[in-house]
Formats: sequence, C-alpha cells, structure tokens
Amino acid sequence: MPARSVAPLRILITAGPTREYIDPVRYISNDSSGKMGFAIATAAAKAGHIVTIIAGPVALSTPPGVRRIDVISAADMLRACQREWRRHDVLIASAAVADYTPATPFRTKKKKTAADLVLRLKSTPDILATLSAAKKPGQTVIGFALEDRNVRKNAEGKLAKKGLDAIVLNRPTAIGADHSQIEILVRGEAWRTLAPADKSRHAAKLVRLVQRISAARRPRVR
Ligand code: CTP
Repeated sequence: MPARSVAPLRILITAGPTREYIDPVRYISNDSSGKMGFAIATAAAKAGHIVTIIAGPVALSTPPGVRRIDVISAADMLRACQREWRRHDVLIASAAVADYTPATPFRTKKKKTAADLVLRLKSTPDILATLSAAKKPGQTVIGFALEDRNVRKNAEGKLAKKGLDAIVLNRPTAIGADHSQIEILVRGEAWRTLAPADKSRHAAKLVRLVQRISAARRPRVR
C-alpha cells in the first residue's frame, strides 16, 4: 500500500496521440509515445490517488492500480473525457491531440491514381479547453504546451486562453524520450524550470504540485 500523506484525489489524465483516419488503413497522427502521461499516472497511483487514464494508441502497459480507457480519435477522446470529467477532481491533459481530421474520410481503401490527392481537413475539438470551460468549483485543470519557438509566451497564451490552473512546457526533443526538460507555470506565480531528468522524476514532482494546487481549491466535487 502506498504511504498517504494527503487525501486521495481523483485524477483524470489524457495521454498519447490521437489517430484521425483518412480511409480504413491510413491516418494522420502526432508523434507521441504517451510516456509522460503514463509516468504521471504511475506517480499519481503510487501517491495513493485514484487515477483514470484516457489513452490514444500507445505501446505502453497500464500502470498498477490505474483505470485505463483506450480511444483512437480526438472525437473519441473528447467523448470519453466528457463522460469522466464530472467524477474527477483534477484533469492533466498530456495528450498530443491531432488538431485536424479528414473532413470526409473514404469508407473503403483509397486506390492510388496518377492524380495528386487533395485532402480537406477540419479542426478537431479542443478537449482541454472544452473540459476547462465546464470546470466546477474545486476542480483543477493542468495543460501541456509543446513549443519550438517563443516557448514561454506561447505557453502563457495557452494558459490564459484555455483557463488553466497550470501549464507544463516542453519541447519537441521530449517526444518519445525517457528524459525531458520541462518548465512549469502555475497561474499567478513565476515560471519554474525543472532540471533535466527522467520523466518519472518529473511526474512525481508534478503530482506534488497538483496536490498543492488542488488543496487550495476546496470544496472537492463529489
Ligand atoms: N489539447 C487538447 N485538444 C486539442 C489540442 C490540444 O486537449 N484538440 C491539449 C493538449 O493535450 C495540451 C494542450 O491542449 O494539454 C496544448 O496542446 P498543444 O498541442 O501544445 O497546443 P494546441 O492547443 O494544439 O496549439 P498549437 O498546436 O497551435 O500549438
């Protein structure tokens, strides 16, 4: 049994990529292993929290004690999140959700022709923004930002626009890696930079941060 020094929180985590099908065998996706989200789920469960992970297609096993819901597309992930959100205290959105999906996917495998193929893509729903807008008093929402330029400014923009309690900034070098360098901004506080480390170390620190932020947001939602 993990040692508990804090009241258990119900933590909902999104992880991994989503897959947007062009036809039954081809898809658009994002480069994401899901390792960070699964590391957070592992750390949160070890700390005694009640954890649900909503995972896109990843090659990772379910951490002990974690409830897992597998999804494929951004639309699937949104549906699963909307079902789960009201039963959770905290959302940690680490998924690399595809921002676009084919407007009219082919029902059968698209045959090759000599002509170029033009695909029309439509925007997917922003899951984090949708859940944040539906946040009840006592719920905490943490987002991620993957940035390769104007990194802090862009992350600050996402924190404000999506109404987040905190944002975790990382860079494309983190994709698929076991190590990462992250910076964290809690709303109303200053940026803090975590020393480069294993994703599991960062995950444990993030869980402690979530506990602190969440403790400041009572009453808990039942
Ligand atoms: N996110 C989400 N649903 C989307 C897109 C992003 O829930 N359709 C969440 C991610 O899980 C992450 C945060 O929003 O927590 C920021 O994701 P990111 O890909 O960095 O940014 P975008 O909002 O997609 O903006 P851009 O791609 O323009 O940087």
